[in-house]
Amino acid sequence: MTSATAVACANIAFVKYWGNLSPDLRLPFNSSLSMNLSAATTTTTVRFDPGLASDHVVIDGEARAGAPRDRVAHHLDLVRARAGIGTHAAVESSNSFPMGTGIASSASAFAALSLAATAAAGLSLPEPELSALARRGSGSAARSVPPGFVEWHAAGDHAASFAASFAPPEHWDLRDIVAVVSRDHKRTGSTDGHGAALASPFFAARIAGLQAEVPRVRQAILDRDMAVLGPAIEAEALALHAIALTGRPALLYWAPATVALLHQVHAWRDAGLPVWFTLDAGPNVHLICDGAAAGDVEGCLRQLDYVESWLHNHAGGAARLVPAPAV
Ligand code: DP6
Repeated sequence: MTSATAVACANIAFVKYWGNLSPDLRLPFNSSLSMNLSAATTTTTVRFDPGLASDHVVIDGEARAGAPRDRVAHHLDLVRARAGIGTHAAVESSNSFPMGTGIASSASAFAALSLAATAAAGLSLPEPELSALARRGSGSAARSVPPGFVEWHAAGDHAASFAASFAPPEHWDLRDIVAVVSRDHKRTGSTDGHGAALASPFFAARIAGLQAEVPRVRQAILDRDMAVLGPAIEAEALALHAIALTGRPALLYWAPATVALLHQVHAWRDAGLPVWFTLDAGPNVHLICDGAAAGDVEGCLRQLDYVESWLHNHAGGAARLVPAPAV
């Protein structure tokens, strides 16, 4: 096969990846846990074409040059080396959600790219190898390869640092309603954030605490226990931002509306609505609740003029090959 199309979900981390042992290999300091997001997907077609003098990259209908193209081309180099080919490729990718706003577009992007590119190159990689490959493009992409609720293992070498599912999507009707408060492209991407984190005086303390927190959060998900999971994910999100705020350079990802919504979530909970928040490296707020509370959460969001829109996710499936989109 010289052409293939893949779809992958973004994911929301409940225990997050923040800081790399090896920036080039994207080997994280800590294991992380996440849920795939059913409504936040990237669809990517890769076509290897002997007539191309370089890789062509189109994202959301726009031809890309510079750093975004080079990051994709670098990832294609890894696939070419694995497949023993030298052919350049045309890559066409589209997202179902805005890029660079705290919904992890790089996770779905590099998971879909890894699957489409390896299939187009004639490879059929086992899931752990595909996940480890996706990790080289963007760390969190490792977690978008397997389905449902996922753990990405911290390890000292490339082959051992992959993600695997620990519960399927049907395990729990958990929702992530992503409240969009800003569509501005963030000023500092995650890759620079991982580098800045190491200078925070709190970095080592967070990593030490996660030794016990990862199994505790995994068990809360296995038990479908919102009373344990909810407070744990809020504390973890705030801990990540405490590191970002105290790194070098210091990074402030929140917009005023982000802070307003965090207070609002606490007020809703005080009023009896079982909803908790988490955040990635961006201004938008991920509202986490059981399916039974999701209608009420949307009703509350409708009252807020500073929330532009929201994206309602269930637990999503694995990265998968699909027929080529119609042109
Ligand atoms: C805050 O995977 O986007 O979303 O490897 O540099 O592409 P790169 O970083 P990325 O970092 C994700 C950071 C996070 C937390 C998480 O998803 O675990």
